[in-house]
Amino acid sequence: MRNEEMLLIPGPTPVVDSIYDALASETRGHTDPRFVAIYKNAIEQTREMLQTDGEVFVVAGSGTIAMEMALVNTVAAGEKILVLSQGYFGDRFIKLGQAFGIEVDVLQSEWGKQVTPEEVEAKLAEGHYKAVTITHADTSTGVAADLDALIPIVKKHGALVILDGVCATAAMEEDMSKTYGHPDYKIDVILTGSQKAIGVPPGLAIVAFNKTALAAREKIERVPAYYCDIYNWIPVMNDPSKYFATPPVNLIYAYDEGMRLVHAEGLSTRIIRHTAFGKAVRAALSEYGMQALADEKVAASTLSCILYPEGVNDAEFRAALGKKGVIVAGSLAHLAGIAFRIGHMGNTTEEMLEKAVELIGDTLNELGHPVNSAKAVERFKQEVRVGV
Ligand SMILES: Cc1ncc(COP(=O)(O)O)c(C=O)c1O
Repeated sequence: MRNEEMLLIPGPTPVVDSIYDALASETRGHTDPRFVAIYKNAIEQTREMLQTDGEVFVVAGSGTIAMEMALVNTVAAGEKILVLSQGYFGDRFIKLGQAFGIEVDVLQSEWGKQVTPEEVEAKLAEGHYKAVTITHADTSTGVAADLDALIPIVKKHGALVILDGVCATAAMEEDMSKTYGHPDYKIDVILTGSQKAIGVPPGLAIVAFNKTALAAREKIERVPAYYCDIYNWIPVMNDPSKYFATPPVNLIYAYDEGMRLVHAEGLSTRIIRHTAFGKAVRAALSEYGMQALADEKVAASTLSCILYPEGVNDAEFRAALGKKGVIVAGSLAHLAGIAFRIGHMGNTTEEMLEKAVELIGDTLNELGHPVNSAKAVERFKQEVRVGV
């Protein structure tokens, strides 16, 4: 990898050379058949990854555009949604819904914990909800949602499942052909971005709608959007030589290569790898007295939110670690200053994470908090082997 630093924030994540090479390929016109073939392939690879019977969309935009596209095409103004929030990004659906005149109810967990199936069951029994939003892995807390428990409840109540996979897709199971306890109980919409577990630079919004979600779009007739109206994009996704808005040609090259790498590794292998990475990183850091905010049972495999031991200064720690070439992120809201976030997803490798564990230990020692780096590295190696 030609990267000079280890970008272990919760996205963007490390980009590998073949993706940089693709990104730096000659820019061609968006109707040039050579580009059109690549766009078509990228869309097909996305469809294969998410296994949908409906439509997929790969357009310029960040994860937030993908959230907007998911919501405005399925829920009309005045209809009601239930937001299941396990942190900052779950909460984002509240403002998003309100911006479009959607009635929003929310179930918020304490940060670090999950919303429980019992709470969801009780809330959904209260009235009709058009859709329920679930954040697969909340990037602020490192908490994963329990899809096996939640989806049957949501579907039993006739609501659409909108899954935010921005910090999960291509690392945690997201299969739109999977049934959850009944042949009709499936994920209806998945939205994601290019920059996290897919491992491509930021800039692409990716959304998939199944047939049920497409039927919801049809009922809305006119959505309060133009760029985000999927009806403007369906002709392009089915024939990328058509034009609606200029696609980010070079990013599509990069994404096509990123998707190739995802499929070359295989989704099931990736899921196992990420599970092992998450467990091993958290176990190793616990050797330094650094505990994850989330209990291991609910922890996401893609990133961890790690509480500092007494006396470690956030800014000092991250700056010193950064000088050693390891970049981690601060925490959000009330966790700012008391926890940091470390990503372990996408094209991140076992070697990188092992080195990061060692350098985190070195940094703590340097800052006057004596720890045993060798022991933590050994723990990482053991745990990662058990997992993979
Ligand atoms: C779970 C989740 N959803 C949505 C978003 C928003 O994505 P973006 O920042 O690409 O707009 C993020 C960003 O980190 C996220 O982690």
